[in-house]
Amino acid sequence: MGNMKGPLTSHPVTDNFKEWSVQVDGRKFLQQLARHAYRICNYDAVADNYNIFHQHFGKTGVIHFAVKASAEPHILKTLIAKGSGFEIATYSELRLLIESGLSKEDIGTKVNFGQTQKERADIRKALVDGVRNFATDNVHDIRIIAEEAFKLRMDKGAIRMQVRLFNSDSDTSGEGYSQSFNRRYGVDNEQAMQLARNIAERGMTLTGFTFHPGSDSNNPQLWDYGVRNAAILTRRAKEELGIEVTELNLSGGFDPAIHIEQYSKHILPLIDKIYKEEKATHPHRIDTEPGRWLVANAEVLIGKVSNVKINKDGTRIVTMTTGVSENGTLTDLGLDFDFFILEDGKARKLEKRDDIRGNLHGRACADFDVMAESTPIPDELHPDNPIADDVFVVIHGAGAYSHYMERNFWCGITPPMKMNYDDFKNCITHEKYYQVALVNSYAERSGLPLKNAMSFITRDTHKKIGEIKGSEIARILDNPILLNKLGLHILSSVAEFVQEHADRQ
Ligand SMILES: Cc1ncc(COP(=O)(O)O)c(C=O)c1O
Repeated sequence: MGNMKGPLTSHPVTDNFKEWSVQVDGRKFLQQLARHAYRICNYDAVADNYNIFHQHFGKTGVIHFAVKASAEPHILKTLIAKGSGFEIATYSELRLLIESGLSKEDIGTKVNFGQTQKERADIRKALVDGVRNFATDNVHDIRIIAEEAFKLRMDKGAIRMQVRLFNSDSDTSGEGYSQSFNRRYGVDNEQAMQLARNIAERGMTLTGFTFHPGSDSNNPQLWDYGVRNAAILTRRAKEELGIEVTELNLSGGFDPAIHIEQYSKHILPLIDKIYKEEKATHPHRIDTEPGRWLVANAEVLIGKVSNVKINKDGTRIVTMTTGVSENGTLTDLGLDFDFFILEDGKARKLEKRDDIRGNLHGRACADFDVMAESTPIPDELHPDNPIADDVFVVIHGAGAYSHYMERNFWCGITPPMKMNYDDFKNCITHEKYYQVALVNSYAERSGLPLKNAMSFITRDTHKKIGEIKGSEIARILDNPILLNKLGLHILSSVAEFVQEHADRQ
């Protein structure tokens, strides 16, 4: 069986530590880390992860990568080339897949619209672009899908629906589950039968059942509850409604610290056993929707320790230069940490001690900005240690669900537009006002990171850019008229650039 560890901590930053640590200038590195974290990518890991996942779940059905876990174009292209399917929660994720080259045929057969609470316009656009597989857990959603298909004069029978079930019988999911999904998602068996009836009455096809045990579920038995109910419902749908349900979608939730074989060797025989016990027809297809497991180790974050203090109860509170506020949902799920210190300018890995526990925080002043609680840390992280704040931390697992703040927003969704109340009340739905607000909002959004970059670029790097000070850009960003001019300038130079280069790609 070989190494039964999952991919979580496999990344060249730590695997090949010697390779780069002898070259790094320790002081400069720490200065840089005090300004900003590093996000070190290793997208090749995703192809390897997919191959391993495929060995264990590829024969039973389609693996749908959950795009919400990382919408990085390189990752999407790699997975498209591998023949992966995809799970989407928003239409914008489908746009990213189309931009990455997903074919119309694959959209029809390999994309699951897994969000059960969808925007009507998203449903319409997804149908137009060819999506035919939808998860649902409410009659409202089923009605809207049917209405939109009718308006588009589509064959409703070609719309394939999966009913999403609860993942446990409590609304908090219970011991071992990383997250609750049951307060928002899923139905019990009686509701599932009503939805099955509803789907059939509307002329659509009920193909399967699905449930999600919670992201980073580290115990394969957390799938047992959902599998049991899917089997019961598969039998009942046949007996009571004459519907042959042929698919089971195990969704996501696989913990990247654990080898995928640990899941397959429990879950696949379990399905055989439970479907037999419940006298249900064995599913023709057993699909999956892994997010975190496929991409967690595609990136690590490197941040620096800013400060260490000790609470009255002995807990060490470690504040770092990167955290939840800057990086998204790095909240104690699917993460691991390695600590290093620089000695004579070179880096050395510190030993994590099980008997010394700390809470790792970002810089936002609230408890929520916590990446890990009671996690093993090295003894060097102590307030009395004068070089405790020279320690830098490699955060494993940052490839999943983490960097959308940096990229402005999640999965290609347009971020909120900023404007003053005066502009808003002037009637934002007038095209003229809307356009000005749009340009200013994005000029500011692009200007701020440019300002930061320019304050770090020196004349040595680039003579002309090095002469401009970040503070000069800040003044322009503060002046609404100049901000608008800057926005139009950025947009027109981008337009020129695109015109010049678009055809040559
Ligand atoms: C419907 C659905 N499928 C798949 C996933 C991916 O889950 P994970 O990243 O835990 O594998 C999610 C995550 O929220 C989801 O809601």
